[in-house]
Amino acid sequence: MALAGYEPGAQRPDALKLNTNECAWPPAPGVEAAALAAVEGLPRYPDPRATALCAAAAERYGVSSAQVLAGNGSDDCLTMIFRAHLAPGDVVAAPAPTYGLYRTLAGVQGARYVAVDYGPDWALPDLAVTGARLALVAHPNNPSGTLAEIDALRRLADRLDGVLVVDEAYVDFAEGEAGPCSVLPLLSEHANLIVLRTFSKSFGLAGARLGLLFAHADLVTQYAKVKDSYNVDSFAQAAGLAALADRAWHGDVVARTLAERARLEAALTARGWRWPRSFANFLLCHVGPEAERLYRALETDGILVRWWSQPALRETLRITVGRPEHTDRLLAALDRHLR
Ligand SMILES: Cc1ncc(COP(=O)(O)O)c(C=O)c1O
Repeated sequence: MALAGYEPGAQRPDALKLNTNECAWPPAPGVEAAALAAVEGLPRYPDPRATALCAAAAERYGVSSAQVLAGNGSDDCLTMIFRAHLAPGDVVAAPAPTYGLYRTLAGVQGARYVAVDYGPDWALPDLAVTGARLALVAHPNNPSGTLAEIDALRRLADRLDGVLVVDEAYVDFAEGEAGPCSVLPLLSEHANLIVLRTFSKSFGLAGARLGLLFAHADLVTQYAKVKDSYNVDSFAQAAGLAALADRAWHGDVVARTLAERARLEAALTARGWRWPRSFANFLLCHVGPEAERLYRALETDGILVRWWSQPALRETLRITVGRPEHTDRLLAALDRHLR
């Protein structure tokens, strides 16, 4: 098969992982008991629609249960959307650079992926002119951490012939700092808008694989038809419910992440590095021609950050915000390797 598969960041249990934007802190304390209690239900299949979880999410995010669908990670939600909307040759559009899985999923459907470069200062480019059947914007964007203007997203949803996916994997960090900036409130005015959330980042549940899709009830009905029957396992449903219930823990993890990001930013500024203003739990640092060498040197030290060989990114390193002791270890290693 000619398809270039998606390449996830390396997973090395022995390493300090600052490469895949996972949460530096554990999930809410109630998650452990909820997962253990789920053991009793293991002889049975899980609820195919994760009803209790979707109801809790609907209440938390101010939508109706019919507008929510759960996925095996938000990657699974993306898969459903691509399956439901695309035929070979259809156009999928997204700004560049962005989350690499969008291109891979377009390839799986035989769709044509049109990448439109971000403008200066990471302004959202016009995706409507591509005639896309499906457009995607990560908000905040990965790998830049930048936020699009809500008005630009609203205009895009208005002008697009197809559907617009706003992937809010990191939006809790943005809202922790900048106040409301999710497009969830726009759902009621735009029948072609889909919003994705994940439990992999601010909720600390990347290993559980759990994501949520919010859209008009008619779209949700379509996506439910193309999903795997039991796509979210019993542990993930229980863990997600417990994580959603503990708002104080969630708020605290977001606050700790933002505080540590500020400390990392101060330390990297002192070393002369720069990055676009981040609203997420990572920084896309402009390092210069040394980026690859530093990436490999850190890897040898057991510290994983993300580096890409593509021209737009090869002079950058994307660094996930860790706990204070992780920042200390990273900075000590950088100081050994910086010339
Ligand atoms: C923008 C974006 N969307 C989706 C995902 C995948 O999230 P999940 O773990 O819920 O599949 C990621 C993971 O890094 C991401 O950066």
